Amino acid sequence: STRVAFYGKHQAGIVTPVQAFGHLIAFDLVSGAGRKQAAALLRRWSATARQLMEGESPSRNTGIALDAGPCSLTVTFGFGRSFFSRAKLEKQRPAELTPLPDFSNDALEKGRSEGDLWVQIGADDGLVAFDALREMQRLAEGTARVRWQMNGFNRTPGATPRPMTTRNLMGQIDGTRNPKPSESDFDERVFVPGSGAKPGAASPEWMAGGSYAVVRRIRMLLDDWDGKSLAEQEKVIGRRKSDGVPLSGGSEETGPDLEKLSSDGSLSIAADAHVRVSAPETNGGAAMLRRPFSYHDGFRDDGAPDAGLLFIAWQADPQRGFVPVQRKLDRGDALSRFIRHEASGLFAVPGGPAKGEYVGQRLLE
Ligand code: HEM
Repeated sequence: STRVAFYGKHQAGIVTPVQAFGHLIAFDLVSGAGRKQAAALLRRWSATARQLMEGESPSRNTGIALDAGPCSLTVTFGFGRSFFSRAKLEKQRPAELTPLPDFSNDALEKGRSEGDLWVQIGADDGLVAFDALREMQRLAEGTARVRWQMNGFNRTPGATPRPMTTRNLMGQIDGTRNPKPSESDFDERVFVPGSGAKPGAASPEWMAGGSYAVVRRIRMLLDDWDGKSLAEQEKVIGRRKSDGVPLSGGSEETGPDLEKLSSDGSLSIAADAHVRVSAPETNGGAAMLRRPFSYHDGFRDDGAPDAGLLFIAWQADPQRGFVPVQRKLDRGDALSRFIRHEASGLFAVPGGPAKGEYVGQRLLE
């Protein structure tokens, strides 16, 4: 069963291919807990995350995942804006944690947004993922209280005859045009530069090798969406549903041709198509790594599925990644009629730990 390295320049769970099961959990420090208690918690969390990711069984483990290997388990830790005042570390707070602006289409629930600490768990086995979630929650007892928790999923490896980009709950192939680690500007887009790499870089030293995660719980208005014809659905996105090919032609991997006209003289990819409005080409190069999970929390009182996307975007600076793109999508995206942003979080995710270090040590000691 696949093992992902715990130690490294970057934390696991960012560049790692998205797993089949995900849990997101945010905590607030209990009153009386500060930097010292947080440091001890991050030390406990890191030690256990390392053991689970390497397929060892921590002491007191409940046995939920006995018999299974690590199944690509990753546990990723982040700090929210409120953490820095609680822990009296305001001087270390990155400017990048400036609150996201309000967007006109937002319907955010405070209780399910933000938080002092954030943990992202992913694994290709549901029991392995839950085991890690339970361990993290138990280790927090007495130091931090659960603020919110969300569960998500993606396609299971082996479900398709060949590996494919996963689909979301609208049925679209989702994730095609993400920045790729093989591209020369990937690191610059996704990760905070190492110490001294960029004179004048805003992010503090302790964030070297880190990244900023924007988390949005986006409910899909699936009754409205599923009532639309295939042609209408494809126009909203600008790609074919069956195989993800851009409406301007080519294959799934071909970049959308935003200038191309159809035989009737109209744009092949409509002016308000999601892939046009969100593309780096129409946003001054703004880009992010989207690494989401789908979610389904049952049915609402009106009968509609409470389901959608746990959207997670990774970038070196949210003001140059998520924010300009979402500003534009908020106003001009055909998809916005079929979605609601219901929760939001912004977290500073430090670089990966060196051997023997715990995550966040450079901030907390
Ligand atoms: C592309 C779906 C929300 C940014 C795409 C694609 C789909 C999709 C199907 C085309 C395939 C691909 O390249 O991955 C959705 C759905 C959303 C959503 C269903 C909400 C439920 C967002 C948000 C943002 C965003 C909130 C950022 C603020 C992008 C970007 C691309 C993209 C940057 C690549 C565009 C390109 O370069 O061609 N999305 N998306 N999406 N989306 Fe979204």
